[in-house]
Amino acid sequence: MNAGLISLQSAADLLKRGQLVAFPTETVYGLGADATNAVAVARIFEAKQRPTFDPLIVHVADTAQVELVVSHFPVTAQRLACEFWPGPLTLVLRKRDSIPDLVTAGLPGVGIRIPRHPLALELLKRAGCPVAAPSANPFGGISPTTARHVVDGLGKKVDGVVDGGPCAVGLESTVLSLMNERPILLRHGGCPREDIERVIGQIDIASPDANQDDAAQPAPGMLSRHYAPGTRLMLIEHNGLAKPIDGLRCGLLTAGKQPFRGLFSGIETLCDDLNLQTCASKFFAAMRTLDASDLDVIIAHQFPAYGLGVALNDRLRRAAQGQ
Ligand code: TXA
Ligand code: MG
Repeated sequence: MNAGLISLQSAADLLKRGQLVAFPTETVYGLGADATNAVAVARIFEAKQRPTFDPLIVHVADTAQVELVVSHFPVTAQRLACEFWPGPLTLVLRKRDSIPDLVTAGLPGVGIRIPRHPLALELLKRAGCPVAAPSANPFGGISPTTARHVVDGLGKKVDGVVDGGPCAVGLESTVLSLMNERPILLRHGGCPREDIERVIGQIDIASPDANQDDAAQPAPGMLSRHYAPGTRLMLIEHNGLAKPIDGLRCGLLTAGKQPFRGLFSGIETLCDDLNLQTCASKFFAAMRTLDASDLDVIIAHQFPAYGLGVALNDRLRRAAQGQ
């Protein structure tokens, strides 16, 4: 699949010229463009077929670059940055005018993070500009955790892909808004809520409004159906007994020693001892494998509701929505 794979320097040069480059981060692969170039950013929305009400996360190499993107870096943000950056935490902070409205879907706040993957950091340094990057997959689909996933999903819509191997975290960053007096968690992700609360105390969790459509949710990107395979997905509770459905080709997505009985046409066990970090790192790839296995339905065990299990359950629920 060598077509499309490029060196870090070529990727940096392409970004500077307003082109689209997919690159590895510790969470998932991102589809990047110069965040200060509105035309380049518009190409991201086009390539992903992403609605423009869904804002993009801006990636920077260091805290000096943060100051070029946000107009105010409050003490709470500094404490979180000190603890979790580089890493899978996105903070929503007041944006500077240099960031086009398209990046933030017209909102006054911009999502920003310093990623932990060494290739991402080096790319950001060499490009010298903040890089807007959503996950590098067609809108609504399964996030990519390898370069191959990116090429399979976006093909020629991306000008080049940097291959950094499989992503270590495997789930998108946690998104925390610091736009109001109380911090609000907008998306569960690779930085667990408990870890954040250990640093800044209790935080609120935004909940989607079931009576509103996707464009009118309290926080953007609270899309009901997301991260979804093409195959029907059925969830069962953590430690519930999984059984195939008569007459259907069923796959099983499970972890640890959770109970199942009967004949499944495909089984993906994320991890033998239910280590949630290992589960997260393998989650999207396992979902893709099952989705490509010609099944009628994927049955998935939910995860324990703590740590990364909360973000994993969130991805499962959204993937199963509206099927
Ligand atoms: O781990 C990640 O976050 C990956 C890597 C590439 O960094 N990126 C990613 O981006 O998952 P994306 O576009 O798939 O998800 C971005 C989500 C939006 O859907 C929205 O929920 C939230 O981040 N977000 C971004 N900017 C925001 C803003 N200004 N205000 C509120 N939420 C924002
Ligand atoms: Mg995404």
